[in-house]
Amino acid sequence: MLSREDDELLTRVEESAPMGAYLREYWTPAVRSARLVADGAPVRVRLFGEDFVAFRATDGRVGFLDEMCPHRRVSLALARNEDCALRCIYHGWKIDVSGSVVEVPSEPPERTDFAEKIRVRHFPTHEAGGIVWVYLGARDQAPPFPRFPFSEVPADHVRPLVAETRCNWLQAVEGTLDSSHVSILHKSWLGAGRGELGQAAYDSAPRYEFDHQDYGIRFAAIRHTDSATSHVRVTEFVMPWTAYIPTGDEDRIAIIGTPVDDVTSRQWFIRWNDDHPLTEDTDTHFWYDELTTAPDDFSALVRGKEMWGQDRKLMAEGHFTGITNLILEDVAIQESQGPIVDRSQEKLGSSDIAVIRTRRLLLDAVRAHGKTGEVFGQAPEAGRPGTAGAAFSISASDDWRPALSAQARYV
Ligand SMILES: [Fe+2]
Repeated sequence: MLSREDDELLTRVEESAPMGAYLREYWTPAVRSARLVADGAPVRVRLFGEDFVAFRATDGRVGFLDEMCPHRRVSLALARNEDCALRCIYHGWKIDVSGSVVEVPSEPPERTDFAEKIRVRHFPTHEAGGIVWVYLGARDQAPPFPRFPFSEVPADHVRPLVAETRCNWLQAVEGTLDSSHVSILHKSWLGAGRGELGQAAYDSAPRYEFDHQDYGIRFAAIRHTDSATSHVRVTEFVMPWTAYIPTGDEDRIAIIGTPVDDVTSRQWFIRWNDDHPLTEDTDTHFWYDELTTAPDDFSALVRGKEMWGQDRKLMAEGHFTGITNLILEDVAIQESQGPIVDRSQEKLGSSDIAVIRTRRLLLDAVRAHGKTGEVFGQAPEAGRPGTAGAAFSISASDDWRPALSAQARYV
């Protein structure tokens, strides 16, 4: 349970809300790189309750600007994208990637200084992992880009997908930290033939252990499979919104829950392989394939459907949730909590320790940022825990930490 004040502090991100100011200090994933084509259509991007437009100029550079033309506030998502700039279709004002207004055909030519006085807010971008990231923070200089493991592999080793969920960003993040739900919500996907992921079927009340790290928290959810063996799922939470979750196969996944506004989140599912290009093995990636049909917002697959498309007939036949995709099960439960879940009404138990710890870490971080301007864990290495999560079995009497260290590969 959380006080209403703390719940507000954690969840609100728009305008001058402290959490919004804090989160803006991190590089934020904004749009899939593939969506931005040189001289192609500009893309609207809403973040922290503000509206932006992203485009790729003729020379390949990315522009990230306030959405509205400074002249009469027409959307620049409607603009022509040509000759290394956006040209507003209303009066032809031309704005380049640096936010300079370089032509104003609606003014007489003798007014040469008119355009020079006008600036459009523009923001630094960085492309990595198939994503355009943006820095929206208050500092003059963007922080160094983190060494995410998925941003250091070749382009065909990584693929991001996006879901825009109708709920606050923290609900999205909390869903990624909750290991015990894997045994219940996702139980129809577990069991024999699902490798390490299937092991989660054996025990729905895992014991949690955690270690604070300079990048966030490392959680181990420990399940008994039989009296002699424990199954361990380690999740790495990297501040302020990234979870590396063990997949049970050799591909890795990072899930990033970012705020579109107070009541909408944009979740990034970044799948990558360190060693070879991603393959489309439908058996292994049973949870993934359907989502690629809507890569820029796969929650659209259930949006507007009665009860998120839950199929009661399927449930009667034995499917636990009646929702036919593992990730869409997560989307449904997160949206069903409402736009901003009232955390003062919760009844938390021992399975919620990862959620509780992460809230505490975020509350401490947002308060510290408000007092001193300090941003937790913001060094290039801080995006890079030694593993991207791991799932493995150990003898029930052993500690999981040495077994995890043996899997560390990001140094
Ligand atoms: Fe889940």
